[in-house]
Amino acid sequence: MKTIIVGISGSVAAYKTCDLVRALKKLNYDIEVIMTENATKFISPLTLGALINKPVLVDDFDDQGYQIKHISYAKKADCFIIVPATANIIGKIANGVCDDIVTSTFLAATCPKLIAPAMNVNMYDNLATQRNIERCKTYGIKFVEPGYGLLACGDVGRGKLADTDDIINMVEYCLSPKPLKHKRVLVTAGPTQEAIDPVRYITNHSSGKMGYALAKRAYQLGAKVTLISGPTDLRVPYGVEVINIKSARAMFEAVKESYEKQDYIIKAAAVGDYRVKEIATNKIKKHEDSLILEMVKNDDILTYLGAHKTTQTICGFAMETQNLIENAKDKFKRKNCDLLVANNLNENGAGFKKDTNKVTFISKNDVQSIELMSKDELSDLILKKLIKIKESHSC
Ligand code: CTP
Repeated sequence: MKTIIVGISGSVAAYKTCDLVRALKKLNYDIEVIMTENATKFISPLTLGALINKPVLVDDFDDQGYQIKHISYAKKADCFIIVPATANIIGKIANGVCDDIVTSTFLAATCPKLIAPAMNVNMYDNLATQRNIERCKTYGIKFVEPGYGLLACGDVGRGKLADTDDIINMVEYCLSPKPLKHKRVLVTAGPTQEAIDPVRYITNHSSGKMGYALAKRAYQLGAKVTLISGPTDLRVPYGVEVINIKSARAMFEAVKESYEKQDYIIKAAAVGDYRVKEIATNKIKKHEDSLILEMVKNDDILTYLGAHKTTQTICGFAMETQNLIENAKDKFKRKNCDLLVANNLNENGAGFKKDTNKVTFISKNDVQSIELMSKDELSDLILKKLIKIKESHSC
């Protein structure tokens, strides 16, 4: 089990660390919490202690020094995060000052480190703070940028503590190996919408969860990730560049713009196969008892990629309701993929909107049935499989 130290400094956003600590615990991490004296004015160590079921460290000297706590804590950390980080604590870290338990342990720790700032917009934008952040980055410390919005002081601007999901994403980034460093990954995700008239469209049930999980994991493994996404309700994973599109044609244009420079392309999107031939300029009125829409076929983006690929490793998906292996093998061949991830909509735990998936990998010489797992776990497996396939091509 990996140990994460959560260091809390004295910002109003300190209360948000309760959610973060709970979420990290649910992900099966061992958590230690260390607080500055000022942080205890915003949130009680008792609350955090109850959430992690162990004492919270506030004072380095509370047991007569028979254990040097800032050293023993630092040694057991796999990742150290300071959430929220004030301008003051960032300034101290930038300059090697360690006059409290959080900064002393942080300086002593050799594990990956992460800082999530939260403060007033003018304090954040102040050149001194920005210089301190830049200096910390030169030490290899990662940052989760604060969000923009209404701050506790009433000002509006940058300075809100990053969203818990983004912090967790960056914790997992810090804990992950980087086999995709210097690699570019393009992921398409979600459904497409094919307009009928200004108020209606044809779409499908794709939630985008599989594609978003792949984009998130590719970023954590070190890649520069572009996500071309149809309309979804999902948050764009931290660090991922997104291009939002609606129709299959818009997705095709966006893919054509960027596919050449990619190392990996993963087509997880559920692309509409047909579009309405003539989109009505005005709302179609219900004068008639029946309505016939003429549809024309959309280009198949994956087929285009398969025909034009040079060094890119390409992964397609196939969702089937019958003859899974037969249909998937046919798509793998026809679309010239390096890997095809096939699933059966009728299988328990697989399919649209779920957090899990049950798939079969089709590759050149292999059909591999994969057990039911979360889309996050499956993303890791798919990316590792693609890395292996690329390595085998370059041998
Ligand atoms: N795909 C694509 N462009 C399309 C349709 C599909 O790039 N116009 C891609 C999907 O993103 C997926 C793969 O092709 O990676 C298979 O999609 P799927 O809908 O399962 O298959 P289709 O080729 O559309 O065939 P069918 O609908 O007949 O099953």
